[in-house]
Amino acid sequence: MKILVVGGGGREHAIVKAIKKNKEVSEIFVLPGNGGMADDATLVPIGAKETDKIVDFAAKSGIDYAIVAPDDPLVLGTVDKLSAAGIPCFGPDKKAAIIEGSKAFSKDLMQKYGIPTAKYKVFTDEKAALDYISGESFPLVIKADGLALGKGVIIAESLREAQSAVKSMMEDKVFGESGAKIVVEEFLTGPEVSVLTFTDGKTVVPMVSSMDHKRALDGDKGLNTGGMGTIAPNPYYTDEIAARCMREIFIPTIDAMNKEGRTFKGCLYFGLMLTENGPKVIEYNCRFGDPETQVVLPLLKSDLLTVMKATTFGTLDKTPVEFEDGYACCVIMASKGYPSAYEKGYEITVADEVKDGVYFAGAKLKDGKLVTDGGRVLGVTAKGETLKEAIDKAYAKVKKVSFANAYYRKDIGARALKAGDK
Ligand code: AMP
Ligand code: GLY
Repeated sequence: MKILVVGGGGREHAIVKAIKKNKEVSEIFVLPGNGGMADDATLVPIGAKETDKIVDFAAKSGIDYAIVAPDDPLVLGTVDKLSAAGIPCFGPDKKAAIIEGSKAFSKDLMQKYGIPTAKYKVFTDEKAALDYISGESFPLVIKADGLALGKGVIIAESLREAQSAVKSMMEDKVFGESGAKIVVEEFLTGPEVSVLTFTDGKTVVPMVSSMDHKRALDGDKGLNTGGMGTIAPNPYYTDEIAARCMREIFIPTIDAMNKEGRTFKGCLYFGLMLTENGPKVIEYNCRFGDPETQVVLPLLKSDLLTVMKATTFGTLDKTPVEFEDGYACCVIMASKGYPSAYEKGYEITVADEVKDGVYFAGAKLKDGKLVTDGGRVLGVTAKGETLKEAIDKAYAKVKKVSFANAYYRKDIGARALKAGDK
């Protein structure tokens, strides 16, 4: 069986490594992938947003199943086009991917179907937005409606910050058309949990829960990043909370999408906040999280490709999805300076004994050597029977990976370890 994976980061590398375990898989193509994946898949130099070229490549190469991992190609309708060309795909079609593609859509959906989320208002007019925020209390959350590389959310601590966020999105268009519409939202507090789920539009199966660490610096300080590390499962997410989320959030969301004629198939990611008033949805993503995938998939006992196909073909109710009992921790090693300016082009060395749990993102091959090529260079994952063991092992592995100007957080999982004494 020939498999195509669209995307090029650590998440895609984790997917490739999991798919590779299936004995029926003869070849994996990753598009565009990155140099760090060259041992695991065939790299195809086509961008993840070049839809027509992707479909053309898939048809000519006899791809049996395609996995579209990143948000952009999903929102652009890559799954629709591959399916129309007769290639079955993992991931939602364009109509369903809007659940991530438009925050206004997802907020309206939650309001209409009574799914718990922060109170909000949507604006397309800058003056109306500015008038509204002048009467609000702070912090206040300002979100660009569309995709914005994970940077479209501003937590404004004061009226002045909120005004400048609205202006930068609506007037200066720093996120282009993604900011033509904005959502202004109540600020919620509580531990955050990421829950990725498999769904075929009828059955929804949550994966093991996880916790991202979005800020650049230790102690959750500094700028927001694409994610500096993850742990799974998330100890704040108890069985009782999980049952409540299934009842109040997951099933109602799948039902709501069906009622809207936007059946969702693939991985639906619930970004939740466990507030004093119960779990609430912070965001939906129409895809696997990065770097959540790098801790969730290593704990998956079942065959990933079998489960993915079950979401496509509507047989998830008959497909076992099992996870190991232990814990996993992923530490992201970045280029110093990320998410602002950083240097690249430095040689990366990884000791043979830790290669298994290393997922490459910003890496490329140059003259036969692997060199840094991005802000988040790679993720190092380890598993353990306890969370503490997983964290210690991940940091021990990090010591066996080196490149000039490497930076990583030293406290991934520290907050989760304290969950017991909150
Ligand atoms: P997002 O880019 O949508 O993942 O949001 C980035 C981060 O902003 C989230 O992980 C939360 O930490 C924070 N955030 C988003 N919405 C809210 C909210 N209503 N209240 C508090 N924090 C929020
Ligand atoms: N780690 C957050 C995301 O993938 O959106």
